[in-house]
Amino acid sequence: MPPPRHIFDPPFNIVRASHVVLGVADLARSRAFYADTLGLHVEDATTDTLYLRGVEERQHHSLVLEKSPSVSAKVLGFKLGSDDDLERAARHFLANGCKPQFVERAYQGRTLRVVDPFGVPLEFYFKMENRERLLQQYAHYKGVQPQRLDHFNIFAPELQRQIDFYAALGFRLTEYAEEDGKGGRIAAAWMHRKGNVHDLAFTNGDGPRLHHLAYWAPTALNIIHLCDVMASTGYLANMERGPGRHGISNAFFLYVRCPDGHRTEIYTSDYQTMDPDHEPIRWSLRDPRRQTLWGQPAPKSWFDEGSAVEGTVAREALFKADVVVAR
Ligand SMILES: [Fe+2]
Repeated sequence: MPPPRHIFDPPFNIVRASHVVLGVADLARSRAFYADTLGLHVEDATTDTLYLRGVEERQHHSLVLEKSPSVSAKVLGFKLGSDDDLERAARHFLANGCKPQFVERAYQGRTLRVVDPFGVPLEFYFKMENRERLLQQYAHYKGVQPQRLDHFNIFAPELQRQIDFYAALGFRLTEYAEEDGKGGRIAAAWMHRKGNVHDLAFTNGDGPRLHHLAYWAPTALNIIHLCDVMASTGYLANMERGPGRHGISNAFFLYVRCPDGHRTEIYTSDYQTMDPDHEPIRWSLRDPRRQTLWGQPAPKSWFDEGSAVEGTVAREALFKADVVVAR
């Protein structure tokens, strides 16, 4: 199937992936994991919500944890280029059969919420309250020293249609995995707005479900240190995959699961993609180097499990991809 072409004049300007809202069962348990272990900075806390950010992020939050009866992914948030882009976004989604609405969000300016045609809850904003810069306040560097949210990865049951939809919003394809042979189907795609490998990735599978969110860490050594910390503080079983290096994106990675099962990737050392003539890289779906240049193959849970999306019932994928699974 054809990879989508780059579109340089999208209907509105998405700057980057910005934040995610997750429903969790026990806020104290989540705080112990995300703040005390991973090292995210707690910017604000109420009795039922935690707002966290990385040390590089001046925006108020990139991860919002809400105590919730349903353990689910509630919002994938994106920053827009201007206030006018909010109006343009609303018009675009309306014209495409969606129901955008402006909503109130703490610490954010005007915020547009919309469920995409595939059931993914999205949020767009231009302004968010800024907070003190922590990048050179090294006393705040804890855990894996998360710097910034980098991307989301979602299970997509109609992958080709969904990547075509997001390509029309200006997301540019950097790498993709495809079946071999004539008529081979794309089974995974990495698409960006901000100029690195991705803001949003799509994995063929029952969905929509959130596969993972990812935070950028300064170096591979920070990730190794997190492995030591998790292994010695009762979180050994929460280390699902890695550390290792991806073929796709070239990132050094570790995947961890929080006590509710939400998956976070700790990610570092991908590359720049902002050149307008940057052509996507094709990988054969059967090439094991694409997932793991080195390291253990991904376990079955990594292919099968993901966070439910609030308000949407997951649908079966249109096809089953023939992936390489650890034995
Ligand atoms: Fe990722």
